[in-house]
Amino acid sequence: MPAQLIDGKAIAESLREEVKQKVSERVAKGLATPGLATVIIGDNPASKVYVRMKQKACQDAGIYSVGHELPGDASQEEVETLIRKLNNDPKIHGILVQLPLPAGLNEEQVLNSISLQKDVDGFHPINIGRLAQKGREPLFIPATPSGVIYLLEQSGAQLEGANAVVLGRSNIVGMPVSMLLVHANATVTICHSRTKDIPAITREADILVAAVGIPEYVRGDWIKPGATVIDVGVNRVEDASAKRGYRLVGDVAFDEAVEVARAITPVPGGVGPMTIAMLLRNTLRAARLADGNDVG
Ligand code: GUN
Repeated sequence: MPAQLIDGKAIAESLREEVKQKVSERVAKGLATPGLATVIIGDNPASKVYVRMKQKACQDAGIYSVGHELPGDASQEEVETLIRKLNNDPKIHGILVQLPLPAGLNEEQVLNSISLQKDVDGFHPINIGRLAQKGREPLFIPATPSGVIYLLEQSGAQLEGANAVVLGRSNIVGMPVSMLLVHANATVTICHSRTKDIPAITREADILVAAVGIPEYVRGDWIKPGATVIDVGVNRVEDASAKRGYRLVGDVAFDEAVEVARAITPVPGGVGPMTIAMLLRNTLRAARLADGNDVG
């Protein structure tokens, strides 16, 4: 029997609706409209598309959003000056600096300059450091990783005691998702470019998260029958029959995997929409933090 499809699009839509409702309730009570500032440096076309989607999602949810664009040759000081201004702007509750940054900028210092209370991406070194420690609570959890965990939970996967394998060790997805899986009491193996015999490891995985950026890298026979597969990859592959000349595929060979897994996310329509939904949630949370509320 083919796997259950984990419909990230529908799940994200219902989360976005929930955020919209909560935003409208707080505004009706006279509380501040949540505000998100996006910062994009340089002209990476994919980053521009993502940021535009984030701004549109804010608009739909009733969240105020302002976009800032700096040239690719902006200096460290210019970037940090803008961030300091946004840190001090009471209308802005969340600051998102789209990554990757152009070469020459110090990413760690840029992320470190964002106010901890406005770090809706959860990439501030203190928030990431807290995520890496037992018994510590980050103020914000990065959007894509928390979307992955949410989809796993919604699919009915058992995380506690599960063998979870994460392919990829990026700061944005692989590492934080691994830490969240540990917090959920899974036993986690992280595979990367130097790992030996990756298929032998993935075949033991009850939960498999693929975030390597290689089209259809994971084959059907790498998957343990009954596993839950979360595909974070979004890769363009040429396709002359497609209107745009390309189609999007994940890091997992979907047609093969769907015959083996218990549940799987499609690409597109799986993890992608969750990133935006979780960012909106984090922005609402930032506004509640600014109210002085215990957001729990
Ligand atoms: N680049 C790719 N994913 C993300 C994300 O979730 N946040 C930011 N800021 N940059 C990204």
